[in-house]
Amino acid sequence: MGAEFEVAVAGVAAPPAKRRRRMVAAAGGARRRATRRAPAPPTRAVQRLFQASRAVFRGPGTVPAPAEVALLRAMLDRMRPEDVGLSADLRFFKAREAAEGKTPTITHTTIYKSENFSMVILFLPPNAVIPLHNHPGMTVFSKLLLGSMHIKSYDWAGPGPDPATSGANSLPDDRLRLAELVVDDVFTAPCDTSVLYPTAGGNMHRFKAIASCAVLDILGPPYSIEEDRDCTYYTEIPYSHQPSSDLVDNEQERRRLAWLKEIDMPKELKMCSVAYGGPPISDR
Ligand SMILES: [Fe+2]
Repeated sequence: MGAEFEVAVAGVAAPPAKRRRRMVAAAGGARRRATRRAPAPPTRAVQRLFQASRAVFRGPGTVPAPAEVALLRAMLDRMRPEDVGLSADLRFFKAREAAEGKTPTITHTTIYKSENFSMVILFLPPNAVIPLHNHPGMTVFSKLLLGSMHIKSYDWAGPGPDPATSGANSLPDDRLRLAELVVDDVFTAPCDTSVLYPTAGGNMHRFKAIASCAVLDILGPPYSIEEDRDCTYYTEIPYSHQPSSDLVDNEQERRRLAWLKEIDMPKELKMCSVAYGGPPISDR
């Protein structure tokens, strides 16, 4: 798997040395090709995207204005896989894990990270799932560069997360809250950018890869445990499965509602990170 990754995903640097040795032993001559590869040339697209993001995300608490959202969205809409050093030939994703019936591992790489924003790429092999999770206080731009995935996103229905103020939209179990479906659709690259907003627009989402995927995300600000922006995971419970679910009569509306319950990070979620080796950006 690893050697294929090194050759096919040209923009992403090789995994750590220990893991790499095993791959090289298994893959024979792939090492020579990988280690001799010249650094990817800079492209203006990723540099421009970085500079625009830096101008928009001026610090934690910044919520981009509509014009700024439109600007970043338009730039991301035009981003191509090669702008971050990716090839459409994602042989990496013909993962041995899938053939062996194991849970597919999700890989991520960080292009840039500061306390104001981060730019990352997520790689999902077929059937990989990033479970429903939130983005507290964050604006998130997601651009599917390659592949096809199902995206489902929710917003909280009604008032904010304080159970004491959420009235009919929460149950006595304060880990269970009513949410409204915002997106439930299959996206296939090339496609438009989707945006999650801090307070509306589907701030919780779930990804399931249908075909091998690469997703470019800009998160402003990034997750931070120190600043109380940790990631929470949820499971969905159909609206009608709770006894107090007689608040809504309209059947169409009922179908767009679900109870979300906080859960620990699912044990089957397997993620690993690799260094970014695509076109470099300059932070000057
Ligand atoms: Fe997310």
